[in-house]
Amino acid sequence: MDRTSTTSPSPAAEPLIGASRPGAEWWRTAVIYQIYPRSFADASGDGIGDLPGITSRLDDLVSLGVDAVWLSPFYPSPQNDAGYDVADYCDVDPLFGTLADFDALLAGAHDRGIRMIVDLVPNHSSDQHAWFQAALAAAPGSPERGRYMFQDGRGASGELPPNNWESVFGGPAWTRVPPASREDNGQWYLHLFDSTQPDFDWSNPEVHEEFRRILRFWLDRGVDGFRVDVAHGLVKTDGLPDHLPDRDAVSLGGHDEAPYWGQEGVHDIYRDWHRVLAEYDGDRALCAEAWLPTVDRTAEWVRPDEMHQAFNFPYLMTQWRASAVRDVISESLRAFPAVGAPATWVLSNHDVVRHASRLALTAESPQGHGIGPGSPGRPIAAVGLRRARAATAVMLALPGSAYLYQGEELGLPEVVELPDEVRRDPTWFRTDGARYGRDGCRVPIPWTADAPAYGFSPTGAAWLPQPAEWAALSRSAQEEDPESTLWLYRTLLAVRRAEGLGAGALAWIDGYGADAIAFRNGHVTVIANAGTAPVALPAGTVLASSGPLTGAELPVDTAVWLVAD
Ligand code: NOJ
Repeated sequence: MDRTSTTSPSPAAEPLIGASRPGAEWWRTAVIYQIYPRSFADASGDGIGDLPGITSRLDDLVSLGVDAVWLSPFYPSPQNDAGYDVADYCDVDPLFGTLADFDALLAGAHDRGIRMIVDLVPNHSSDQHAWFQAALAAAPGSPERGRYMFQDGRGASGELPPNNWESVFGGPAWTRVPPASREDNGQWYLHLFDSTQPDFDWSNPEVHEEFRRILRFWLDRGVDGFRVDVAHGLVKTDGLPDHLPDRDAVSLGGHDEAPYWGQEGVHDIYRDWHRVLAEYDGDRALCAEAWLPTVDRTAEWVRPDEMHQAFNFPYLMTQWRASAVRDVISESLRAFPAVGAPATWVLSNHDVVRHASRLALTAESPQGHGIGPGSPGRPIAAVGLRRARAATAVMLALPGSAYLYQGEELGLPEVVELPDEVRRDPTWFRTDGARYGRDGCRVPIPWTADAPAYGFSPTGAAWLPQPAEWAALSRSAQEEDPESTLWLYRTLLAVRRAEGLGAGALAWIDGYGADAIAFRNGHVTVIANAGTAPVALPAGTVLASSGPLTGAELPVDTAVWLVAD
């Protein structure tokens, strides 16, 4: 390994397993479990999850059967966007622990054969980052301002924002700063997200250099890769032309063709990072969080010299309709392998309505808007859970790599009834409550039915209240029940691993009707019924079923894995 960094490697720097032969790297087939640290497990008792809490639960991830973990941000941050507002990229927020706690967590995961990728947030920092504080104190045109997107305003005295861009969280994407001197009348800075999240200027080589340093800092500590936040947003079109979002594209879950999404120059950044990761052994990986309208566009992020994976958001946004699910699977298995990348699959994360609720919504809910007490089309919990279990059974049989979001293995629904005063998502504040935002999918995990805060924290504190019904959904309650969602996930993951489904190939099967999703992967046959009438099952031994079977029939909203006798 050609290490160019001066940071001395920690003991955790040893790769988990040496490099695989090309084509057999771990990230091509891995099931990767997203941990949202503030809501996973709280060892300190302050009501906010932390790194020692995660370490204490690693054996639970082993018994679930996942291959890797993606850790959402745990860096020092004022927490205005739950840590996606990073004030220092190379440390741990005291809220979550220390760097030593991080090393212990990584070592504990590696000891158990679990890889770990961390979140990298390169589009913007927190306004508390030392660079931004220095920029505020410096004059327009200074090198300090040149690291962010500062512009003079329009209008006679610069009183109007430089253009009409809107923040993803609602409201204007520009904020004016006080004059730094008497000659200056107050510039504006760009923030595609919250006003406390100023966008970096990626036309500045210093920003590139800084992020190479940050990558190496964590690679030297031994991480297996990075999930890259807003990977489609770093480069903005020259001249920053006016643009208003295409509401249709946004409500379909993709971002539109805006002058700040998916610009060509962004790909050079990832080619550069690809080379940085290639200096390290152990198949380190980059995964793009790039919200793009189609699978084909998404595949541009995973060409051979760019990132290794990209989240398949078109798959996540597909409704529970057989033809739509078949189409997006076919497109994905064409488009990603066409550029040498694995298809990826995901149904839930910390930004979307949990799929145990989303798949039963009867009214439109654009990504990020969330659902709350006043939302139309509220899901029926039993329908949502049934569909979620079936959809997961389809997903985990697909070749490629799959992402799970903490709590989906318990069938957790979106929490709809959160009181207004506990909401924390900047979306809620920036839209004056018109959008509920994402708090409903971030409620702390219930571990133990009869413990305070369901075992999330020793003191019973929890930063968001957990619903009373969650005692029955707690992990301890589900341990006792072989029909539980937890046991379904364990079974699916065990069979997926034993049968090598992640490295397999899909062949569609006809004959089960337009409302079925039916395919073979290896010698496992998968049939899901997304229609309104039962589907006759073929003979065979059932390996897993997302719900009870009625004789030789597959009930609606149910999926089965079987092998011929
Ligand atoms: C995507 C992250 O997943 C989301 O949680 C965050 O609010 C935005 N990027 C801004 O960083």
